[in-house]
Amino acid sequence: MKALLLLSLVLRPPRGLDLYMPVPDANPLTPQKIALGRRLFFDKRLSLDGTLACASCHDPKQAFSDGRKVAVGIGGAEGTRSAPAIVNRGYGRTFFWDGRAKTLEEQALEPILNPKELGMTEAEIERRTGLKIDDVTAALASYVRTIRAGDSRFDRYASGNPRALSDLEKAGLAVFRGKARCNTCHIGPNFSDEQFHNTGIAWRDGKLVDLGAGEGKFKVPTLREVAHTAPYMHDGSLATLEDVVDYYDRGGNANPGLDEDVRPLHLSAEEKLALVAFLRSLSGTIREGNS
Ligand code: HEC
Ligand code: HEC
Repeated sequence: MKALLLLSLVLRPPRGLDLYMPVPDANPLTPQKIALGRRLFFDKRLSLDGTLACASCHDPKQAFSDGRKVAVGIGGAEGTRSAPAIVNRGYGRTFFWDGRAKTLEEQALEPILNPKELGMTEAEIERRTGLKIDDVTAALASYVRTIRAGDSRFDRYASGNPRALSDLEKAGLAVFRGKARCNTCHIGPNFSDEQFHNTGIAWRDGKLVDLGAGEGKFKVPTLREVAHTAPYMHDGSLATLEDVVDYYDRGGNANPGLDEDVRPLHLSAEEKLALVAFLRSLSGTIREGNS
């Protein structure tokens, strides 16, 4: 059973995600742990006042993001960053917009203890769930690893069906890879180089308002399911994909550390339209849990 499950998770990823998923030796995937992690992910007892669960900010209907500019925790507490779509994070190398967590196990503890998110203590989690905190985070991390997005129309096109994309979407793909060179950072099966870049988003009126991973650098997010994860960027400052394309087209917000691949693109109206259409073709199927 366990071997079968590992096969389906690690060797048969959704179409388009031909990637090896690293799983820590200390926390092997098992159907039991995944099922427990899934229950915990939707369990509001994980928040101090019983009003929120992980899924409140990572809603399966919005590709596990929340549609808000910045996250809102217990008691209406506003954070400073947007809840990212947590699809294909099992393939990631670091977690959070600034990469401060090195594993998904380490990551899972933060929202639980963050007073502006779930606002709990380890002791209270253990009391309510009857589980050791390490078992809670191991199960949550295991479930998060199973959230996999793939099988988009783009993937069908890339695997040999020329009709899976419209002419407009194909033109957008050409802009993505060519004139706009979006794929210098949004590269590979998950559309992320897993690195940190300064695109200028954290610069407002000539001032750096969020250091990120240092000097305003943030992790390159996946573009899979991006049509379902508005608003965009670490601060949710861009409302639509059209806004995102306009932002890159004008070369981002000027600042001393701006990445050299962010520069005025001089895209025509047709090219912008095509690029957005292509981004929308990256939605497909999300599989999660023991399915
Ligand atoms: C109040 C809203 C909120 C809740 C509740 C919440 N998260 Fe998040 N989550 C966020 C925000 C905001 C970020 C990005 C924070 C940052 O980068 O500093 C994030 C980041 C993440 C990431 C990193 C994704 C990446 O691409 O690096 C994962 C994984 C994740 N959350 C899983 C969980 C789990 C598991 C739980 C439940 C224990 C949870 N979250 C609860 C808002 C929330
Ligand atoms: C220099 C690297 C780089 C290049 C080039 C680049 N991006 Fe990005 N992209 C990033 C980073 C880093 C972020 C996150 C920035 C932040 O939130 O501060 C991002 C965020 C995004 C997002 C938001 C996703 C989300 O979930 O919030 C979209 C959409 C996007 N980029 C599309 C594009 C498109 C389209 C192009 C080409 C026009 C492009 N990117 C070029 C690095 C890059």
